[in-house]
Amino acid sequence: MSKFNKQFKDIQGGLSTEVTKADVGEGTGNFVKNGGDNMAWADMFFPDPSIPESVKKATIEAIETGFPSHYTMPIGQLELREEIAKHVSKKINRDIDPSRNVVITPGSDAGFIFSLMPFLDNDDEVLIPDPCYPSNYMNCKLLGAKAISVPTYPEDNYQIRIEEMEKRVTDKTKMVILTHPNNPTTTVYRKDNLIALSEFIIKHDLILVCDQAFEDHIFDGIEFISPCTLPGMWERTVTICSMSKGYGLSGYRIAYIYTNEEFMDKYYGACVNVVGAPCTASSAGAIAALQDETILPEYYTRLERRRTIAYDILSTIPGVKMNKSESGILSWLDVSALGNSDEVVQYIKEHANVLVNDGAAYGEMGKGHIRIVTACFAKDEDCIVRLNRIKKALTQLAYEKGIH
Ligand SMILES: Cc1ncc(COP(=O)(O)O)c(C=O)c1O
Repeated sequence: MSKFNKQFKDIQGGLSTEVTKADVGEGTGNFVKNGGDNMAWADMFFPDPSIPESVKKATIEAIETGFPSHYTMPIGQLELREEIAKHVSKKINRDIDPSRNVVITPGSDAGFIFSLMPFLDNDDEVLIPDPCYPSNYMNCKLLGAKAISVPTYPEDNYQIRIEEMEKRVTDKTKMVILTHPNNPTTTVYRKDNLIALSEFIIKHDLILVCDQAFEDHIFDGIEFISPCTLPGMWERTVTICSMSKGYGLSGYRIAYIYTNEEFMDKYYGACVNVVGAPCTASSAGAIAALQDETILPEYYTRLERRRTIAYDILSTIPGVKMNKSESGILSWLDVSALGNSDEVVQYIKEHANVLVNDGAAYGEMGKGHIRIVTACFAKDEDCIVRLNRIKKALTQLAYEKGIH
């Protein structure tokens, strides 16, 4: 069939040709059905049930009223926008108006492509620090724009080199997309780096779309700055946040975009067409989550412990280089001494029966690395068993390569 547009022409979902992506087709499902473990989905405590009690209660109570058979407003229920506005206002020290600065989206994946739509025309160029969340590249492609990778380096702790951005900016450049904190590296961009980035963005009259899905858990007291708070950036930044990562509520599909009124007017105008409305029952649960001040601190303690456990087990594998994670639920390992990252992923799958991610999926700079979702499984012991299986497999691989 030759009717597909140029954006979709070479996109594949695993139905006609096998694809290696973990998130399409039944490959992952079949692997798990056959006893394998999936540590490739960035989903806290997956596959164990983990709805906080207050959230469960609010969701059930909402369902018992019968009201969730109906739509919320397409931009999201007012009470939820109010809670979010309170939460964001406190974080960024700016008054966020729930009816002028916030739109709720059914997850930030949907929110993310929506956030790009008012800006990107065919052949616009978008600068994207690499490695990063794969959707940064794919969403540009889906909208007919051109993703331009900008390498970031482990020796800089993956901070952005502005000279690398300058080398790639052209008169077609419209936007920078930032995953902050970064997925897969867990890097938190530091204040001085973000100030330099914002000066670059203002100098070249660009838009910043900042995906902060992982902002809720930052370790080691590292300061987290939302770039929209930097001088001159509120006018040109769209920020996307999610209840999926920090609150472990990925199945609730609640995320939100906040930005200035000029941009938000576009999202309000096109909201029903692009993202429909968020789930009404989930909205009730999300309100309860935001009101329950115990959830984030409790999860922080568990995630901080988990990233240390993961580091202690994985960093001692011969041939593996890694840092302790700076944020969230992931571990990022340099396995280049053990072979190509796709071979290492395959080796782990075959010898440890665990699915992890090939770093190459996150961009050119991800090659030679693997990502492991080390906050999988609710109990530390269940995670430790899998991490030790990975360690045993990679130690064997290192031995085969002559690395002891
Ligand atoms: C950086 C980043 N942004 C956004 C998402 C999408 O999350 P959700 O659609 O559940 O909000 C993910 C999911 O893995 C992610 O890693």
